Amino acid sequence: MKVLVIGSGGREHALVWKLRQSPRVSAVFCAPGNGGIAELATCMPIKITEHDALVQFAKGEGIGLTVVGPDDALAAGIVDRFDAEGLRIFGVNQSSARLESSKVFAKEFMFRHGIPTAASGQFSDANAARVFAAKMKTPIVVKASGLALGKGVIIAETHAEAETAIREIMEERKFGEAGAEVVIEEFLEGEECSIHALVDGESYLLFPSAQDHKRALDGDKGLNTGGMGTFSPADKVLPPELEARVRTEVLDRFIAGVKADGLDFRGMLFPGLMVTSDGPRVLEFNCRFGDPETQVLLTRLDSDLLELLEATIDKRLATVAPTWCADAAVCVIMASGGYPGAYAGGKEITGLAEAQATVFHAGTRREGERIVTAGGRVLGVTTLAPTLAEARAKAYAAVSGIAFEGAQFRTDIGAKGVA
Ligand code: AMP
Ligand code: GLY
Repeated sequence: MKVLVIGSGGREHALVWKLRQSPRVSAVFCAPGNGGIAELATCMPIKITEHDALVQFAKGEGIGLTVVGPDDALAAGIVDRFDAEGLRIFGVNQSSARLESSKVFAKEFMFRHGIPTAASGQFSDANAARVFAAKMKTPIVVKASGLALGKGVIIAETHAEAETAIREIMEERKFGEAGAEVVIEEFLEGEECSIHALVDGESYLLFPSAQDHKRALDGDKGLNTGGMGTFSPADKVLPPELEARVRTEVLDRFIAGVKADGLDFRGMLFPGLMVTSDGPRVLEFNCRFGDPETQVLLTRLDSDLLELLEATIDKRLATVAPTWCADAAVCVIMASGGYPGAYAGGKEITGLAEAQATVFHAGTRREGERIVTAGGRVLGVTTLAPTLAEARAKAYAAVSGIAFEGAQFRTDIGAKGVA
């Protein structure tokens, strides 16, 4: 079967890498792809927003399955379009994607179906939002409802900061239309954890846990980023008794919820959790694979990913039982200097061929024989070893051999999982 992956980041590189290992896959294409993906797949210069061109390509090439990486493609209805054309595609449809693209919709879904989450109010009127925030205990979390590249969440330490956040998001539209509505919620204390589960509308298949490191600097300092590194399993954060609660309180209720609401949810559900002293709370629903969670999860997956994706589409998840490697995986992101702020691209990357790790490319481009940087997050240096401590040591040994001007990375990815 020929497979097409849509997207251009480290997550998509990992999807391409894993799908290539399937004995049933004859060729992999990626649109638009990147410098690393080009070594495993044929990259097509089609943007994720060009639905007509993607459909035309899938038909012309006889693609048997298309796999969607990014959230904005799902929110834009790429899956509905492929379905209407009779093309097989993995990903949630547009109405299900609202669980990620509208935080207001997600919160209302959680409250309606008893899924544990932070207490909150949802507003389309700035003055009503102000009145609500003024009565809350600080810190107060103010979130633009729409997709804002992970930047639309403000943790306000004071009421004045909350007031500024409401003004900037709703009235000045700092994040554009994503700020037409806001969620204002209580601040939760705890450790974050990433959960992934394939969902076919009837049942779910829970993946091992992972933890991301969202802040730019060591010790969870600095600005929020798309994610600076991950490890899996994250069983110190989510021991078996808490994972059991995630099953009953989040996933079972999620399945009951999509059924009750008539959502045909088939795809990946990735809830971001805060594990509090009262148990797991859902911070947000993502309806796609995480980046860089996918890099560690697929590194640990022994089974054929193609089978799992097809079982999701065909509502057969209850009949599949994948096997996972018991080893721990670590992914350290090497980013461009300045990220998540402004950064320069075009820096030559050296040491890739010698790296004793799987190096997933996030923002790279091929220039003749050279690979150069072309994004904020550049590489995800990923290793597998019997213990997390060994996987960490291996990953950082590999990182030390890779260089580009201005490279920055955290030195504490996975450290909390070892301590
Ligand atoms: P979200 O996009 O909703 O996951 O929020 C982005 C980040 O903001 C999360 O990964 C958390 O680090 C933080 N955050 C969001 N909501 C809360 C909350 N209610 N309490 C504490 N931190 C939060
Ligand atoms: N790693 C966080 C995300 O993919 O949203």
